[in-house]
Amino acid sequence: MTNILVVTSSANGLTSVSNGLAATLVDRVRESDPSAHVVLRDVGASPLPHLTAETVAAIKSEPATDAEHAARALSDSLVAELAAADILVIASPMYNFGMSSTLKAWFDHVARAGLTFRYTSEGPEGLMKGKKVVVIESRGGFYSEGPAAAMDVQESHIRILLGFMGMDEVTFIRAEKLAFGPEAAEAAIAEASEALGLFAGETLKLAA
Ligand SMILES: Cc1cc2nc3c(=O)[nH]c(=O)nc-3n(C[C@H](O)[C@H](O)[C@H](O)COP(=O)(O)O)c2cc1C
Repeated sequence: MTNILVVTSSANGLTSVSNGLAATLVDRVRESDPSAHVVLRDVGASPLPHLTAETVAAIKSEPATDAEHAARALSDSLVAELAAADILVIASPMYNFGMSSTLKAWFDHVARAGLTFRYTSEGPEGLMKGKKVVVIESRGGFYSEGPAAAMDVQESHIRILLGFMGMDEVTFIRAEKLAFGPEAAEAAIAEASEALGLFAGETLKLAA
């Protein structure tokens, strides 16, 4: 059975482009493989707490207080969801040139020394190897080429975080120019949907 973890992170709920594209991919997977187990973690609708003194204490050493035990349990459950996934789908709206703070909080909870990466005498080693990852990025502007490309810190940050945890088989699918008018937005969503279809067929090897 294929395990799929879908992390969505838009504050826009039902009108979110990245949520919609992630849902399209999940529908595609379910059609092709009804036995696929899909876990939806919507940190946009249900944000995770930011790291606090309790959280850091709880994940760096043995938790002592009730708050530390709760923080450790939350982080452990998020790491377990990630560890169990064969396929990770991340839906990331661009906010202020980077990922949303809700998605960053998810990374803060799952990037755990000893669990998702470790330090060795050779340097850090990612422990979440062998997963297929697709990152859907929705943006109002256009960053794929031209002068604005240097302002895109969303994709590089996500790539670094995933790579640090050992996930280097990552496909990025961008829906850009969403603020350039309805026609541009419609074309961008259609193009991203098509790219997701290709990803499903080629990388996930799903039947058409
Ligand atoms: C708080 C906020 C900040 C944003 N910052 C940017 C930005 O820096 N660059 C950009 O191209 N679009 C920006 N946008 C536009 C979003 O990326 C765009 O609306 C995208 O569709 C959001 O994804 P979603 O539809 O999945 O929510 C921003 C939107 C919001 C709400």
